[in-house]
Amino acid sequence: MKLITALMLLCAATAASATPFPDGDARTGEQLFEQHKCGGCHAKKMGGDGSAIFTRLNRKVNSAAQLVDHIHICGGVVDANLAPQDKQHLGAYLNRFYNLK
Ligand code: HEC
Repeated sequence: MKLITALMLLCAATAASATPFPDGDARTGEQLFEQHKCGGCHAKKMGGDGSAIFTRLNRKVNSAAQLVDHIHICGGVVDANLAPQDKQHLGAYLNRFYNLK
């Protein structure tokens, strides 16, 4: 019985922390995104503001870990020198497109 209660509490706790980037701040992420002109290349490739790159059918990112990886790759291209915390901020911001759990 205790075990079942513990499991139920665990499930509730997991559901409550719906974001995979609990330490990231989406507004800071948005500022970093603009500061490093992340959208420039994406817009050239996809048109519009470029955000379609995050929602296209054959997108590369399908998990929080992959999102951090891709932020790292693209950050390297622009020499952004992103700290782990910055990647959390960017992840929190970009997850508005990805809706990763
Ligand atoms: C030099 C051009 C360029 C810059 C600058 C750039 N990107 Fe990208 N980015 C790309 C290209 C090209 C792709 C698509 C790669 C592919 O399809 O394999 C991409 C894809 C991505 C994806 C994955 C999209 C998917 O398929 O799910 C993420 C996330 C991303 N970029 C984040 C960033 C962030 C954050 C920055 C700023 C630090 C940034 N990018 C700056 C060119 C760029």
